[in-house]
Amino acid sequence: MKTFRDDIFKDKIALVTGGATGLGKEIARRFGRHGAKLCIASRKQENLEAACNEFQSEGLDCMWVTCDIREPEQVERVVSEILARHGRLDILINNAAGNFPAPISGISYNGFKAIVDIDLRGTYNVTKAAFEAYLKKHGGCIVNISAPFQNLGVSWQAHVSAAKAGVDALTRTCAVEFGPCGIRVNAVAPGGMEETEGLARFAEATQDAGGGGSNPLGYLGTKGDVANAVIFLASDAASYITGQVFAVDGGAGIDMMKMPVPTE
Ligand code: COA
Repeated sequence: MKTFRDDIFKDKIALVTGGATGLGKEIARRFGRHGAKLCIASRKQENLEAACNEFQSEGLDCMWVTCDIREPEQVERVVSEILARHGRLDILINNAAGNFPAPISGISYNGFKAIVDIDLRGTYNVTKAAFEAYLKKHGGCIVNISAPFQNLGVSWQAHVSAAKAGVDALTRTCAVEFGPCGIRVNAVAPGGMEETEGLARFAEATQDAGGGGSNPLGYLGTKGDVANAVIFLASDAASYITGQVFAVDGGAGIDMMKMPVPTE
């Protein structure tokens, strides 16, 4: 059984940054399955081509553009290529991000900068380019992929925490500034998800087979769980929701003490 109707994004154009691999690929695929025409953008052409071929073999409409979201002119080119092909851009999913787990002593000055540049500045760059070129006049929807830990303190993620705190702030500010233009802006903050590169890297670096701890539901989520939350926020079902950051983490973020739960 599908959670959402097949055609909820019929005639909509969705840009998913980092949409060729991992979580972004699953998000893109789900938008395609619900009727959206896709554009995926990331740095590696071979990944983009492979994902696009896969999507097309599934009957989805997909284009790709290579782009480093740190470079404003490359980001503007993505938006202009989408507008040249489709004449519109309705949904932006700011998913592209970089991450490596390291304690502060293991993060060089440049390593910190690289993550803030990709995760925060990259999100800003794509948002601004899409806003100026199309969304400002026509309205639309933006969903940023955030993280679940930046309001607390989590070791090994100083650079990502700093960047994602900025993404959350940007989400709220954009929601306020863009609301009058008919643009909703929200964020989804995924916890540890099974079969993701992020979880595997974190587990390897920290020697934690659980990949970052337990959660009240007692199992890891899937990329599909995150994609469903993104789809909900981009859909009309969320038409009065803006400026929010939704954790999709099985409740991990609210279980501060991680005390044993009584069984009776
Ligand atoms: N531990 C510590 N520092 C690291 C690191 C690690 N595992 N990986 C990268 N860095 C540092 C590099 O050493 C470099 O700093 P330096 O110049 O002081 O040596 C800096 O980060 C930039 O790395 P580099 O790979 O040259 O830059 P990039 O801009 O091409 O890519 C990343 C940055 C984060 C995207 C890249 O490291 C990467 O591919 N990460 C894994 C993929 C990923 O992030 N997937 C998302 C999973 S959620």
